[in-house]
Order: sequence, then structure tokens, then C-alpha cells
Amino acid sequence: MERLQKVIAQAGIASRRKAEELIVQGKVKVNDELVQTLGTKVSANDKVEVEGVPLEREEPVYFMLYKPRGVITAVADDKGRKVVTDFFVEVPQRIYPIGRLDYQTSGLLLLTNDGAFANAMMHPKHTVDKTYVAKVEGLVKKGDLNEFKKGVELEDGKTAPAKAKVISRDTAKKTSIVELTIHEGKNRQVRRMFEALGFKVLKLKRERYAFLTLQGLNAGEYRELTPHEVKQLRQLAVT
Ligand code: URA
Repeated sequence: MERLQKVIAQAGIASRRKAEELIVQGKVKVNDELVQTLGTKVSANDKVEVEGVPLEREEPVYFMLYKPRGVITAVADDKGRKVVTDFFVEVPQRIYPIGRLDYQTSGLLLLTNDGAFANAMMHPKHTVDKTYVAKVEGLVKKGDLNEFKKGVELEDGKTAPAKAKVISRDTAKKTSIVELTIHEGKNRQVRRMFEALGFKVLKLKRERYAFLTLQGLNAGEYRELTPHEVKQLRQLAVT
């Protein structure tokens, strides 16, 4: 048995708070009866309707994908390009990505059908660290890293202080490999942070999402998160 507001939130219809509002406002029915009491518990066999629309309930599932380059972070593409859910044909649940990685960015991407969980992970107030490794054109110096640490001015605002370190530099080819850890999710943030300092990103990969790594996965492979990992991610999001 689960609390009604949680079931509604998990179906991705609304946040848990909004779900509570819907219940109090008399917009939710359980087995054709209006329910306005918060905390009412329902089982998988109960029929839940929100504003007259039956909730399609699926067991919540959580995955990480090693997204290859050249794949769109979406569930469908009108130009017929490969999308991240193409890797999950044998998964019956209707999952979708949490946040996005650019078409040319590879790396760790979470997918779920749990709307409340996805909202919690993406909420700007929460600080889930994401670590990227970038190959850039040019030789990155210590002073450049300090700029990342201070925050970089972008057209949509200054970035929060990031952790940054140079992994290696190829003085002959004039390229650098830099690891950058950020917790915001501005559009194309890492690429734009490098561009702001005059470096062009040649390759970008997300290697870590909070405590999760890509260990054991090759590009295009996925695995289910363990219940413990899901719990830990939830805990990070509420702190
Ligand atoms: N920052 C970027 O620039 N691209 C991504 O895909 C993710 C973060």
C-alpha cells in the first residue's frame, strides 16, 4: 500500500505537493469514489483517477545508461535519429531521461518512469554533483581552473563554483584533458564554461553522477540501479 499522493507523483502527473493539492481540491477518485483525505493508502489494484483520467500505474524503475555520442537525449526524434530510449527496447515501462546530455556528449545518464524522483534529481535547489571529463583545444593553465572555481559569467548568469583539475596536457597537439565537477544543469553548461575562457571542447563525457560511475558498462549499455542506490540518490536530493 502506498500513499495516494505518492502514487500520483510517481505516475509523473505532478509533484507530490501538487498531488496533495489535487486531492484536497476534490480532483482525485479512488475506485470511482472521491477521496479528499491526504494520506489515504491505495494498493496496486485500486483504480485511481485524476481529473477524470485513469492513472496508468507502472512499477517504478531506475536505470543508468552509458550514452554514446551521436544519440539524442529524448524518447523520440522527429528526424528519426537514434534516441536514448532505443537502448531499452526490452524494458516495458515508459521511461524517460532525467535531465539531458548533448547529442555529442557521452556518459552517464539516468532514466526512470518515476516523475517525483526525476523532479527531485533535477530540482535546482538540490546539489547532485556531476563530473565531466573534457578534451579541449588549447593548454589549460592553473589560472583557468581558478576561474572555474570562482564561477564563470555566462549569458544566463554566473555558474556556481566548480571543482576542476587538469588530468593531462599534450603540448605537441595543444590539447588538454580536464575534469570538471558541477552541480547545476544549465543548457550546454560545460561547453559554454570552457568557451567563456576561450577553449573549444573537442570531446565531452559525463563520468560520474553523484556517487554513481560508469564502471562495468560500455557505451550503449545500461544497468538497473540497486534499491540502495535509489535510496541514496533520494537522500542527496532532500539535503
Ligand atoms: N554540459 C554540456 O556542455 N553538455 C552536456 O551534455 C552536459 C553538460
